[in-house]
Amino acid sequence: MQAILQTGDGYAPTSTGPLIDNAADWLEFATVPLPDVGEGQALIHIRRAAVNPSDIHFIKGEYGQPRLHGQVAGFEGCGDVVVGPKSLIGQRVAFVAGPGAWAEYVTVDAATCIPLHPAISDNDATGQIVNPLTARAMMGMAADAGDAVIITAATSQLGKLMIAMGRDMGVKTIAVVRREVDLGADVMLNTQSPDFIANAKAALSVLKPRMMLDAVCEQASETLFTLMPNRARWVSYGKLSNDAPHLTQMGQLIFLGKRIEGFWLTQWFRDTSPADKMAAITDVQTRFADGRWTTDVAAELRLDQVVDGLATAIRKPDGKTIIVVR
Ligand SMILES: NC(=O)c1ccc[n+]([C@@H]2O[C@H](COP(=O)([O-])OP(=O)(O)OC[C@H]3O[C@@H](n4cnc5c(N)ncnc54)[C@H](OP(=O)(O)O)[C@@H]3O)[C@@H](O)[C@H]2O)c1
Repeated sequence: MQAILQTGDGYAPTSTGPLIDNAADWLEFATVPLPDVGEGQALIHIRRAAVNPSDIHFIKGEYGQPRLHGQVAGFEGCGDVVVGPKSLIGQRVAFVAGPGAWAEYVTVDAATCIPLHPAISDNDATGQIVNPLTARAMMGMAADAGDAVIITAATSQLGKLMIAMGRDMGVKTIAVVRREVDLGADVMLNTQSPDFIANAKAALSVLKPRMMLDAVCEQASETLFTLMPNRARWVSYGKLSNDAPHLTQMGQLIFLGKRIEGFWLTQWFRDTSPADKMAAITDVQTRFADGRWTTDVAAELRLDQVVDGLATAIRKPDGKTIIVVR
């Protein structure tokens, strides 16, 4: 089968963010044997695979698990089960691989395959697990924390999903961006505007958000955190900026009860009961099937175009890069 293999191994000592200048530094296009199918596994003939920031962090050795030289890249996609439990054969499913999605075929634990509602398009199905479940889990945390939430990198797919969810849940969204764009949030704050701090002070003093869901983690995030009310939580769930922000008001952790913490979907999977996971997956599918959520696609690449085209494709604004396998 055709596949995109990682050329790196283990972890890298760098922290350079989810962009690359040349994918050939990290990846190669190859023809390899189909993966073996073990007991309890399913072989999936892949239709499309997602390109998420985590995939780029990972191929560079900067993610929460080590690379294996020669292993297929890519964590997420959708396709049709061709070998596995009888009940799954022929079903179109969403999957998360550990990795292995940037190829024609992948094997995954059959129990983790998510059969797809027919109304969900292949593009929506491709990113059906990682971002939607993260959005849902974090907006649940935000609703428990208060009436308003700060969402950074709000132009990201996750940002858009969370803003849409905020509207449904009655949680006011303060969207932080680095370019002028209308996302339908209650408040927009542009970190590049000369009025950023004044606008932030004005909005935060009225809406009093007790949670910031932050995928950027730059100095502007720290500034927002210092302007948030007592008991505010800064939840770091991504590192889109290469900035190493410094903390300017440590006393707020002591006297105002503020907290800095992380969120990782992998940990959420470990901590969440099967029933709650099933409820989340069903809700995600319903949102895509009825059109409340949708996936904006900025670029499509075939497998044989990934090594040459990935660096340019992932710089395109306003949508995801998707690998169209067939
Ligand atoms: N912790 C978890 O479990 C978990 C799970 C899923 C995703 N994530 C994280 O969630 C984040 C969003 O993922 P996604 O797939 O939704 O992203 P995406 O759709 O690929 O969008 C990336 C976005 O990042 C913005 N961006 C990139 N560098 C930036 C910077 N230095 N400062 C400000 N904005 C920047 C871009 O803004 P412009 O439009 O202005 O270019 C773009 O909107 C990523 O950090 C990802 O790793 C974490």
